[in-house]
Formats: sequence, C-alpha cells, structure tokens
Amino acid sequence: MDTPKQAALLKRHRLKPHLPRHVAIIMDGNGRWAKKRHLPRIAGHRAGAHSIREIVRLSGELGIEALTLYAFSTENWRRPKKEVGLLMQLLKQYLRNEVGELLENNVQLKTIGNTGDLPLEIQSELRKAMGATAHCTGLKLVLALSYSGRADLIHAIKRIAKKAKAGHLHPEAITEKTIGQSLSTADLPEVDLLIRTSGEFRVSNFLLWELAYSEFHITKTLWPDFRTPHFIAALRDFQGRQRRFGGVESIVGSVTSWAR
Ligand code: IPE
Ligand code: IPE
Ligand code: MG
Repeated sequence: MDTPKQAALLKRHRLKPHLPRHVAIIMDGNGRWAKKRHLPRIAGHRAGAHSIREIVRLSGELGIEALTLYAFSTENWRRPKKEVGLLMQLLKQYLRNEVGELLENNVQLKTIGNTGDLPLEIQSELRKAMGATAHCTGLKLVLALSYSGRADLIHAIKRIAKKAKAGHLHPEAITEKTIGQSLSTADLPEVDLLIRTSGEFRVSNFLLWELAYSEFHITKTLWPDFRTPHFIAALRDFQGRQRRFGGVESIVGSVTSWAR
C-alpha cells in the first residue's frame, strides 16, 4: 500500500499507482559526458555519482522495492589501469559518504557480482555499509560490481550441478525456480523495467536471465544528466506498456510470481 506521502508524490509526477517493483539501470555515458566538456573521463564518473544519489532517493520515496545499478562490469577491468583506479577511489568515497544518506532514507545496500575481485579496502567499506544498512526496510539498493550475467549463470549452474551430483536434486526436477533461486538476485523481485542511458541498444552482460520479460527504456540522455524528470519519464513509459508475458491480454504493473 502506498503511504500518503507516496500517493502525493505519484500525483505530483502524474504517475499511476502501479510502479515497477524492481528497476535495473545500465548507467552509461559518463565518458561521453566528460568528452563533450573537454574534461577527463573521471569527471563524468564523478558527475554520475550525483545522478545515483538523486535516483536512489527518489526510488525510495516512490516506494520502489529494488533498484539494481550496473556500476562496474567484469569487462570494465579491461579499461586503462588509471581509469579503473580512479573508479575504485570514487566507489570508496561513495560508500564512505553515502551511508548517512542511505540510513536517512531507510535504504538497504546489497551487492551482486564478484566483489572478491575488488581492492580489499573497498571490500571492507562495502561490508561496513551493508552492515550499517542491514536493518533498513525501504528500498533495496543493489550495486552490481565486477558483475557479469554469464558468470552469475555459470556460478548458479555449478551450484545446481553439485547438488545433483550429491544426490540432493534430480536433474528432471530442475525448473526456472531452481535457476532463479541459485542466482545472486534470488532474493529480489523480477526485474520489471530496465533503463539504459546514452542510447546504446545492448545488454552488455547485465542480468541475462532476469531480463527475460523486463520492459526496456533506452534514452539518449547520458548518465550524469539523468535526473528526476528522466526517471519519471521512464516510469511513465513503463506504465504505458502492455505487458503480456506471452499471453494475449495486457497485464498491468508487475507480475512477479510467474518464474519463482
Ligand atoms: C559508464 O560510463 C560507467 C562505467 C562503465 C563504469 P562509460 O565510462 O562507459 O561512458 P562512455 O560509454 O564511455 O560514454
Ligand atoms: C556497461 O557499460 C557497464 C556499466 C554501465 C557498468 P559499458 O560502457 O561498459 O558497456 P559497453 O562497452 O558499451 O558494452
Ligand atoms: Mg559505456
């Protein structure tokens, strides 16, 4: 149920009541944003952190359950060492500075991806921030860090194969649910809406299994320019879609029980 504050916010932004339960964002275009301004790429990443702050706060206020942000892919390790180092520094700063803001907004921080690949000091900041926000009951903010959709599937398949080998699972008993529950996103609702900024029409190894029935909103807006009006536009776009899940009738809002 919406709180009166959420209802007022929906009205102010001319949104209908049914919002996506889980929004995922490929935050792209930081480099191009910086290039346009003749600035180093890291300036784009820094500006992008302001967009993160605004979208996280708004998602929480609107009552969205989960927001998954693609912050760093396994492929991003291929970038120049200097850029990777600066990105890691920025992530450390974000984690240190944002805990207060997350707590204030009742946001619980989580991660998906191979966080063991990250520098130890970042792993320790992540543990601290996740520990500090573990009791929060509002938005689940999921940072995809050193994330690869294929790697997550491989990990899930290995877990399932081990169970089968040990005799705890019959191969014929493997269902969508078995796989969904073995992925790092097991505790999250289905992804209803995927947003990609900067106009690229590709998934770049993001939530491969989870995007099966997501609605896609692709905008040319570069991530550092993506703020409240752009997010609202994406939500309105979602609310205008007919979701059919392979059937013939349109289903309103999010249907999250079909797979799990
Ligand atoms: C997205 O912006 C941020 C990360 C991948 C970390 P990019 O750095 O990919 O920006 P463009 O695509 O070069 O503009
Ligand atoms: C996807 O953006 C990864 C993140 C936003 C973290 P990229 O800029 O790395 O993806 P490609 O290279 O355009 O596919
Ligand atoms: Mg990019």
